[in-house]
Amino acid sequence: MVEERRRAVVTGAASGIGRAAAKRLIAEGFEVVVADVNAAALERTVADMSAEPGRALPCILDVSSATDCERLADDFGRVDVLVANAGIQSSGSLLETDDETWEAVLAVNLKGVANCCRAVLPGMVQREGGAIVVVSSNNAVCGSAGMAAYDASKAGVLALVRSVAIEHGSDRVRINAVSPGTTITDYHIQRFAEKGVSESELYDMTSGTGLLNRAAKPDEIASAIWFLASDEASYITGANLMVDGGFSLAGGH
Ligand SMILES: NC(=O)c1ccc[n+]([C@@H]2O[C@H](COP(=O)([O-])OP(=O)(O)OC[C@H]3O[C@@H](n4cnc5c(N)ncnc54)[C@H](O)[C@@H]3O)[C@@H](O)[C@H]2O)c1
Repeated sequence: MVEERRRAVVTGAASGIGRAAAKRLIAEGFEVVVADVNAAALERTVADMSAEPGRALPCILDVSSATDCERLADDFGRVDVLVANAGIQSSGSLLETDDETWEAVLAVNLKGVANCCRAVLPGMVQREGGAIVVVSSNNAVCGSAGMAAYDASKAGVLALVRSVAIEHGSDRVRINAVSPGTTITDYHIQRFAEKGVSESELYDMTSGTGLLNRAAKPDEIASAIWFLASDEASYITGANLMVDGGFSLAGGH
């Protein structure tokens, strides 16, 4: 009998950390639902993954819509791994953050994670197994000036991870968080290239970040995501893995 290929869903997979995580899961033998709200970027990303035909399944969805997330579960059926990565940034201190910004950030970064978990959990419970990895941020534990709504949303998902771990441990569903530090993605590389700053110069600009004196590459975050999603982490649930080069240990410097 041919064994069914394991299936993962990665949200926010059209770029950055999500794309690196999707690529890693495909390399590990998964069929990956590459889900994102940005249709054009999604198309480019799936084309880029065409070396593995049929293994990257595009899905346009907005994680802040419970309906979109339910449709995802209906359309793709069995989901063994969920990487809830989609997120948006916001800048502004508490006094500068208006209602609209609060609602947008919480809708994507916090409720969006809950929507995706709610969509895949019934199937995981029924099959008595599954792994969820939520992408939080070192800002969830360190805090920073000028990102009040973002930091609060990222701390919120850590509480959600603990609740779901307790509620579904007996169903053999594991859920954990990865909290990246500053990670240089294509978005940053392109933005700085427009200002005449090369990729290596960009990394040089981050020297002094954390204990390892540099920012992360998306693949380094994807490795941690893969570890927590894989059976190598079979006895880990409810945890938050800091992947921040020691930034949080260094007191957020
Ligand atoms: N890059 C960093 O330095 C860093 C550090 C800590 C945490 N993070 C977190 O890692 C995650 C990925 O960050 P990134 O830097 O790769 O960001 P990115 O902006 O490169 O990628 C985020 C992706 O999410 C998608 N997205 C946004 N809103 C969505 C929605 N409502 N529904 C579906 N998709 C949506 C975007 O279209 C984009 O493709 C985010 O949750 C972010 O908060 C990033």
